[in-house]
Amino acid sequence: MYEPTIDFIRSIYGSERVIPLHEPRFIGNEKKYLNDCIDSTFVSSTGKFVDEFEEKIAKYTGAKYAVATSNGTSALHIALLLANVAKNDEVITQPLTFVATCNAISYCGASPVFIDVDKETMGLSPSSLKEFLKNNTEIKNNQCINNRTGKVIKACVPMHTFGHPCRIDEIKEICDKYNIILIEDAAESLGSFYKDKHTGTFGQMGVISFNGNKIITGGGGGCVITDDEILAKRAKHLTTTAKVSHKWEFIHDMIGYNYRMPNLNAALLVAQLENLESFLLNKRELAMMYKDFFSDKACHFVEESLHSKSNYWLNTIILKDKEQRDLFLEEANSKGVMIRPVWTLMNKLTMFKHSQCDGLTNVEWLEERVVNIPSSVVIS
Ligand SMILES: Cc1ncc(COP(=O)(O)O)c(C=O)c1O
Repeated sequence: MYEPTIDFIRSIYGSERVIPLHEPRFIGNEKKYLNDCIDSTFVSSTGKFVDEFEEKIAKYTGAKYAVATSNGTSALHIALLLANVAKNDEVITQPLTFVATCNAISYCGASPVFIDVDKETMGLSPSSLKEFLKNNTEIKNNQCINNRTGKVIKACVPMHTFGHPCRIDEIKEICDKYNIILIEDAAESLGSFYKDKHTGTFGQMGVISFNGNKIITGGGGGCVITDDEILAKRAKHLTTTAKVSHKWEFIHDMIGYNYRMPNLNAALLVAQLENLESFLLNKRELAMMYKDFFSDKACHFVEESLHSKSNYWLNTIILKDKEQRDLFLEEANSKGVMIRPVWTLMNKLTMFKHSQCDGLTNVEWLEERVVNIPSSVVIS
C-alpha cells in the first residue's frame, strides 16, 4: 500500500517538493495587520490585536473569557498554577501527548500520573480513569489522596489528540466526583467540538496552542479559556508580570511571568481566524478523501468518534503492526513525504520514567501502529 499512498499524497500536494506534515497558510489579511502593528509601533505585549484576538477566540469557542499567552506551554503552566497545583502534588494525564503537557506539570513542582487512553479517540480513557481512582485513592479533607504515594491529586489534564475530542463529559463527571480540577489540553483542537460544545470549555480551564504547526498560527501563541471571571483576571495578571495598573509606577504584587502574547503574533492570529472556517472545511474534505482512499487498504483511518466533530488537525492511520509502521515511515520519508509516528510515550522519557503508570495497554498498542500523514490545508 505504500507506493500508492505516497502517489496519492503527491497527487494532493504536488510532486515537486518535500511535503511537510503540516504547514501554515497565509492567504488573508496577515501582511496588512502586521503592517498595522509596525506603523503603529505597537509590536509588543500591548496593542489592539491582542484584545481583539482574545474577544474573538472567546466568542468562537463559547468560553466567557480568553487570555492570550506567548505559547501553549505557558498557557498550560498558568492554568495549572491557577488550579493551585504546587510542589509534591500529582496531576493525572495521558502518556500520549506532547512533552509540553508534562513539562508544565513539572514547572509547578508536581508530577504526572499516567493513565491509559481509549483506542478510538487516542485521548484519556474515562473508564481507566474511573478504575484507577476507585482502586488507588481516597477522599480526605475534600482532597483526592493517592494511596500509593500519599500525595494530593490536584488536577487532571486530558488532551484532545490530533484534534479528536476525547470523551470529555465523562472525564469531567469523574473529576467532579473526586474533587479533581479539570484542565483540558486543547492545544491541538481549535475547531473541534464534543456534543456541540467546543473542546477546552468542559474543564475549569482549557488551553489552546497557536504554534506554527497548528490549524491557525500566530508564529507562536497560546491562550487560556475559562468561564470563570476571577480565574481569567488572575491569568491576565500572572501573564503580565503581576503588574498593578498605575499611570507611572511599577508595582508588582507577586511573582509574575512575562507570558503575554505580543501584538505582532496576535495580528497574525486575527487574520488567520478570519479563515478558520474555510480551513476547517478544507481539512474535513481532505480527511474524507483519505478515508475513501484507505477504505480498501491494510490500515485503519481514524475518524471522529460518536458525538464528536474533529478539526482533523493531523490525519492519522493505524497500521497492522510496528513492522508495517516502520516500513511505511522509511518509505515515505525517504521519498520526501513527511509522515511521523506518535511521540515517544511520556512515561518512557528520562524525566518521567519514575512516574506512576496505570495499565497502559491501549497506548502501547497505538504507539506501535499510529502514523500521522500530511494534513496541511490544501491549496487548489
Ligand atoms: C498537546 C500539546 N500540548 C501543548 C503544546 C504546547 O504548545 P506550544 O508549542 O504553543 O507551547 C502542544 C504543541 O505544540 C501540544 O501539541
